[in-house]
Amino acid sequence: MGQVGSIREPKDRVVLAYSGGLDTSVAIKWLQENYDLEVVAVAVDIGQGGDLDAIRDKALKVGAVHAEVVDAKKTFAEKYIARAIKANALYEGQYPLATALSRPLIAKILIEVAQGTGAAYAAHGCTGKGNDQVRFEVTMRALNPGITIIAPAREWDFTRETAIEYAKEHNIPIPITKKSPYSIDENLWGRSVECGILEDPWIEPPEDAYGMTVDPTKAPDDPTYLEVTFEHGVPVALNDESMDIVTLIDKVNKIAGENGFGRLDKVENRLVGIKSREIYEAPAALALIKAHQDLEDMTLDRDLAHYKYLVEQKYSEMIYYGLWFSPLRDALDAFINETQKVVNGVVRLKFYKGSCKVVGRRSPNSLYDRELATYEAGDTFAHQAAAGFNKIFGLGLETWGRKYRK
Ligand code: ARG
Repeated sequence: MGQVGSIREPKDRVVLAYSGGLDTSVAIKWLQENYDLEVVAVAVDIGQGGDLDAIRDKALKVGAVHAEVVDAKKTFAEKYIARAIKANALYEGQYPLATALSRPLIAKILIEVAQGTGAAYAAHGCTGKGNDQVRFEVTMRALNPGITIIAPAREWDFTRETAIEYAKEHNIPIPITKKSPYSIDENLWGRSVECGILEDPWIEPPEDAYGMTVDPTKAPDDPTYLEVTFEHGVPVALNDESMDIVTLIDKVNKIAGENGFGRLDKVENRLVGIKSREIYEAPAALALIKAHQDLEDMTLDRDLAHYKYLVEQKYSEMIYYGLWFSPLRDALDAFINETQKVVNGVVRLKFYKGSCKVVGRRSPNSLYDRELATYEAGDTFAHQAAAGFNKIFGLGLETWGRKYRK
């Protein structure tokens, strides 16, 4: 007697995207209490820094039945960032999409862990106002239409204070470090800062908002030169030294950041219809895309280059909107990869007190022909032929002018 009741039905499981912060820690307990689920916590390493083993231990301590750290830096760099470089991906022409690019990868890993641990549910810590909830959920459903998604932060009505109360009541360790006044998201490709005083778009961001870049006025007094080698549109070496792309991005982040380069302050159109003021730091992303664009200027045929701008804009928008796992993105990648066959060579960057300028470039695929371009001796351009070209090229406007311009 009594034995039967003690045999517990196995509970359903939820895989949670876990950061180790207050919200996702509270979410572990909250999912147990409100959904009666076992929680599998997953922390994905995409170069955000911090002690991920400690984060895994914390998840277990708070009550996760299983916790995993997945090192995805290489995949992130090779399968996501490299494509973004080839596409010169900048949302609204400025934001290099660090957060946006990471979401489909994190969601994919979550789905894989869900499959491996028999979880029918997946959860994330995003609120209902941001882009990230969209990116996570769209990706997870694209990869596993059967998954049920829970967004605790969209359901609970905690403030920071009541979340801390809840944490105390449930023995959830509260971060001892002084809470930053900002909401920060960081990875290998850059850092995003929101909230607090930054919500006033007129106020200049205080220095404490920055973490990857020094104040440009305090940057070294001598410029730093850096040569970036590209193969098929992907950076493969710095100052002639070959290295894997994760190391390369790390190094460029450091060099550019030390020179105060990589800060952005923009008002951005979120997918959910809100305009938000965003502070970004993306030293490597902005420097490498600038170098890559410059090499394309030298190696791509004009019509191809101009058409590619249209593709780049669409591609960036798709990343921002969370549409990574889509047939359109695959097709655009095929186009972009075709263009990158000739994007080989070296670009010389000069960092100086917050600026990054291209000061030299060379390529085995260069279309720059000095004999055609020169104004000095040795000019091979067919000057006489230009008169006929101009005549025919302008014929349509000449005809219009004759009829309508009085
Ligand atoms: N606005 C950026 C994006 O949608 C960053 C969002 C996450 N940033 C944050 N500070 N929590 O990609």
